[in-house]
Amino acid sequence: MLRQWWLRGATACSQFSRAHSGCNTSSKPKRSIPEDGLQLSDFIKEGTKKQRMKQIIPSIEDTKEYLNPEDLRGNGRTVCYVTYGCQMNVSDMEIVRSIMTQYGFVESEKREKADVVLLMTCSIRDGAEKKVWNQLKLIRSNSVNKSQIVGVLGCMAERVRHDLLAKRNLVNIVAGYCRCRPRPSLQEHLNFNFPGPDSYRDLPRLVAVAAGGSNAINVQLSLDETYADVQPIRVDAATKTAFISIMRGCDNMCTYCVVPFTRGRERSRPIESIVDEVRRLRDDGYKQITLLGQNVNSYRDLTMSPSTSSEDRVPGFKTVYKPKTGGLTFTSLLEQVSDAAPEVRFRFTSPHPKDFPMQLIELIASRPNLCKQLHLPAQSGDDDTLERMGRGYTRDLYLRLVDDIRKILPNVFLTSDFIAGFCGETEQAHQNTLSLIRQVGYSFCFVFPYSMRGKTRAHHRLADDVPEEVKAQRHLDLTTVFREEALKLNQALVGTEQIVLREGTSRRDATYSYGRIDGGVKTVFPNPEDIVKPGQYAKVLITEANSQTLRAHLIGEANI
Ligand code: 5AD
Ligand code: SF4
Repeated sequence: MLRQWWLRGATACSQFSRAHSGCNTSSKPKRSIPEDGLQLSDFIKEGTKKQRMKQIIPSIEDTKEYLNPEDLRGNGRTVCYVTYGCQMNVSDMEIVRSIMTQYGFVESEKREKADVVLLMTCSIRDGAEKKVWNQLKLIRSNSVNKSQIVGVLGCMAERVRHDLLAKRNLVNIVAGYCRCRPRPSLQEHLNFNFPGPDSYRDLPRLVAVAAGGSNAINVQLSLDETYADVQPIRVDAATKTAFISIMRGCDNMCTYCVVPFTRGRERSRPIESIVDEVRRLRDDGYKQITLLGQNVNSYRDLTMSPSTSSEDRVPGFKTVYKPKTGGLTFTSLLEQVSDAAPEVRFRFTSPHPKDFPMQLIELIASRPNLCKQLHLPAQSGDDDTLERMGRGYTRDLYLRLVDDIRKILPNVFLTSDFIAGFCGETEQAHQNTLSLIRQVGYSFCFVFPYSMRGKTRAHHRLADDVPEEVKAQRHLDLTTVFREEALKLNQALVGTEQIVLREGTSRRDATYSYGRIDGGVKTVFPNPEDIVKPGQYAKVLITEANSQTLRAHLIGEANI
């Protein structure tokens, strides 16, 4: 039987505080923690909060006596994992799956019957949250397991935790991203040297709390959690592609974006742990690795000695934070992974344009295994809108960056994100964005209608004044124009030879395979005798193109 405070997951933090203060000989006044844990604002208010964390988090000895390790074990209980949102969420769910599996839970596809259903959620737009609320209702109404435990993880767990916990009939567990104390090794944790609150590592405990009949929450934001030691990250063994999270969080504070509030401050995994993982994947025959992060090219391993170049921003681009210095930057990381696995293709997402110094572009130009496809999210092509978005650059600076990149990488494939109908966006501003898309020529764009999010700077300071039907029309305009340009770019590839990494088999015709060229465009080619296996490179001749897909003839097997 679990002790009372342990059962009351929602008050676990204040209990930790009490437990620790009992053995704290310091004369400092004791600090209380909000019932539902610390948030980003708690970290920002004081620079020395790390010390405070040390004071309030109990040691292993403090907490051990309260624990019954058996209650943490899955013992074959089933878990259904449901993921919404971006690649980072998919990757985070892998971390969760890995932790749950290590504790003896078994994955199940059967949502209605599973003992535990965990939803990894996204808050970036209102529509994403609505989808999850609808699913939560469906899960409960379709469930045939009366004691089923439903957990909400990820962005919504951070942003709307009060609303979630108020829906006791729908949700039992709310678990955010991080934690706020030095990281134990996974092994330490698995040995039940249970060191204190930590949201994903804490899941088995939260499930035990929920099974005891209470709702459980842990949404503490961390300054340092990167889950570097939780393996594997995300792999697709069939296509020999893998995704590795290299950093978490974002410090940019674009005025429309909730990510800095839900994912916390930027923190990077040590370079060594990433290179080790790349080597392991290479040895297992993986051929494509995508490095992931909310702000991936802002990567900086501060555990390493200072890099020679401390300033890595593109000249002219501004940030809301002071220039970051020291450590090893994204350029060093790419160089190391490229050396470690020359036969593996590397991609990365999602970057910010300010973090594309020319050394990085030159490195990409010099290495055949670094794909010549760059995501350069512009968001808008209008100076006033960019200013209100807090993006830190003008249209002109962005275009200069595109020119500089193309001087070094003339055949680069550029992709972008755009927001339609941001606060105060005029018709002229919209036209300016359309003209930017025409001028740059992207091979793909993600276009989103603006969705006002609570907590953001735009929410506090700006009016969501573009009518929904105008947003919808502008969304359509942006999509139409990027497709027109993408079609021209793809048509220019007809007659060229490209290297494709085969991913799968065409659904329409099993004698055709598909994969992606270095620039990321999907390519379909005949492969009737299955000469080119999934995860193998093929040389092809491009014969046809539309705005999204290329068709090709197979020339033969290839290497990069
Ligand atoms: N509304 C619409 N789109 C948004 N994005 C981020 N926040 C919002 C929002 N509030 C888009 C941006 C970002 C992408 C991941 O999502 O284009 O680059
Ligand atoms: Fe959001 Fe801007 Fe950070 Fe991207 S860079 S995650 S848009 S705040």
